[in-house]
Amino acid sequence: MQLKGRHLISPNDLTLDEIDGILRLAHDMRQNRRAYADSCRGSILGTLFYEPSTRTKLSFESAMLRLGGQVLGFADANTSAVAKGESIADTIRVLDGYADVVVMRHPKEGAPKLAARYARVPVINGGDGGHQHPTQTLTDLLTIDTYKGRLHGLRVAFCGDLKFGRTVHSLIETLARYPKAQFYLVSPEELVLPERLRQHLERSFRCEMIECRRLEEALPHVDVLYMTRIQRERFFNEADYQRLKNSYILDAEKMREAQPNMIVMHPLPRVNEIAYEVDKDDRAVYFPQAELGVYVRMSLISHLLGVNQ
Ligand code: NCD
Repeated sequence: MQLKGRHLISPNDLTLDEIDGILRLAHDMRQNRRAYADSCRGSILGTLFYEPSTRTKLSFESAMLRLGGQVLGFADANTSAVAKGESIADTIRVLDGYADVVVMRHPKEGAPKLAARYARVPVINGGDGGHQHPTQTLTDLLTIDTYKGRLHGLRVAFCGDLKFGRTVHSLIETLARYPKAQFYLVSPEELVLPERLRQHLERSFRCEMIECRRLEEALPHVDVLYMTRIQRERFFNEADYQRLKNSYILDAEKMREAQPNMIVMHPLPRVNEIAYEVDKDDRAVYFPQAELGVYVRMSLISHLLGVNQ
């Protein structure tokens, strides 16, 4: 497995063996964190965030610092030369002289892919518009593997904004590559999975997909419930957002319908789609999930820089 020097724009850039290698190293980093504390000393991670982020940016920074490396970047494009009209191509050509690996989040789909064309160092997509979010997918896979012990043969419900949710798009397309995946797609009519993605899943993987409007239809049947927020910033008008924002709210009463060993995941941030009372339920793993994101990013950075293999 040779990931050194490669870009990560979509989870499809990785084979299942490569994903497995990243997860295995992440598990080990979690068990033996100290052993890796110096492994990226002298390397710099650049973070280019053109869109708000808490977990993705901070977990990448934490990952690099825990490996003994350093970080630089911006969290608000308005404080960088972008505000003066600099193009992505120019920004990346400069930044890749300042950093050894770069993570970019951008509201425009395809922006990190464009950056990768101009960069000499690995570019990681930290989320591009409503398109892809490959490192969240790696985080999600590590979480599922940790709690369910496998990635194949799972029944997974995706609930909320399946249209704009890039975490959903990346994860469903990746889980579909594992044998015997079965998906419940729970969303309002207006926020169903994009038709092209749905057709791709059906044609390429012959996945079983069951579309539901009510969460209760899916809940008793699944091993994993993947909740997402309704993405206000991607709506064209506020009235539509207001109408749809409370479509699904998972609470303690609904959790009674679920299997005792189901897990509830969420890429976070949550708005109000999971009631706070659910946090106390042992099946709620969204906070541990956010923490696992650090280990998977430590592993990814190491692989792209060609250390710890
Ligand atoms: C997600 C994102 O940015 O796509 N957050 C994250 O990275 N953990 C989900 C979201 O914003 O709803």
